Amino acid sequence: MNLPLDNKLQLESLLDGYSLKELKNVASNIMEQYKNNSNKGNDLINSSLTSKVYAVYRLPATYSAFGEALKHTLELYDQNIDSVIDVGAGSGSASLAASHLLPNIKSFTLLERNKYMMEIGKTLHNFDYINYDLSKDNLDIKADLVISSYVLNELDQNSRINAINKMWDMTNKIMLIVEPGTPEGFVLIREIRDYLISIGAHVIAPCPHMGVCLNTWCHFSTRVSRSKLHKDIKGGDAPYEDEKYSYIAFSKNEVIPCKNRILRHPQINPGFIELEVCSKDGFKKLKYSKKDKELFKKARKSDAGDMI
Ligand SMILES: C[S@@+](CC[C@H](N)C(=O)[O-])C[C@H]1O[C@@H](n2cnc3c(N)ncnc32)[C@H](O)[C@@H]1O
Repeated sequence: MNLPLDNKLQLESLLDGYSLKELKNVASNIMEQYKNNSNKGNDLINSSLTSKVYAVYRLPATYSAFGEALKHTLELYDQNIDSVIDVGAGSGSASLAASHLLPNIKSFTLLERNKYMMEIGKTLHNFDYINYDLSKDNLDIKADLVISSYVLNELDQNSRINAINKMWDMTNKIMLIVEPGTPEGFVLIREIRDYLISIGAHVIAPCPHMGVCLNTWCHFSTRVSRSKLHKDIKGGDAPYEDEKYSYIAFSKNEVIPCKNRILRHPQINPGFIELEVCSKDGFKKLKYSKKDKELFKKARKSDAGDMI
């Protein structure tokens, strides 16, 4: 799911007038900050220009990853979603993706503590922000869908369970958490899964079961097209980048999980296709030959992250 062109043009216009040298410099400082200072609860964006460069650099990728995770969640959950709370919303990429996938949503509330992120978000969309620190503040609000996208890994370990409890209390129907698809990002998702199941949450996606997860690194990938400006700032010539993400979606009510979740790109061989999947019994390989007709066709069209 790629950021629509009009949103991309609006986003990139924020950097009109700056020299490329300055933008590259800011971008490399941001990446340095994220490499060295994540997980510590620190504010990583500290100026208006930093938040703009960060958005151009990262928003298309987080939009796409969050959008894919929400799409897979909605395949298994068909109740109406009227309201969203987006925790650690940044410039609002996850809400933007949710608004594009669910155009009937009536209200979006974006919670964010960083004034530069809020500032830039307000120039990109009309969602309402509340100044809110997930580690310190309490708010008595609720929404059908509560989301956090690439946020919980920024909190220090001690604040996380508290933050997750707050988000779960805000949830009427679904809570969806997306994190980087790194081994560390997945471990965080698995810890959140264990904890939420222990307090009675029901997993919607990606898991086909609610038993112990034996995966060592469950992650998915989405292909994000790159603009000229993105290449200029970040470097490299590739026309796209693959954004890896891990996610977990919970429901307040029981849901029927998928039968199998495809974990890797299908292996297409002459006459048969092999899929590596997570099933209700954990990891397994499925093989479909042409004789399986409809299933073979479905497997051929499928991709990692799909259910089958
Ligand atoms: C990596 S950005 C992700 C932004 C957005 N959710 C996205 O997917 O593009 C992380 C965001 O979480 C916010 N954040 C980090 N810790 C926070 C906290 N304790 N309370 C509120 N927001 C927080 C940061 O200010 C930043 O905007």
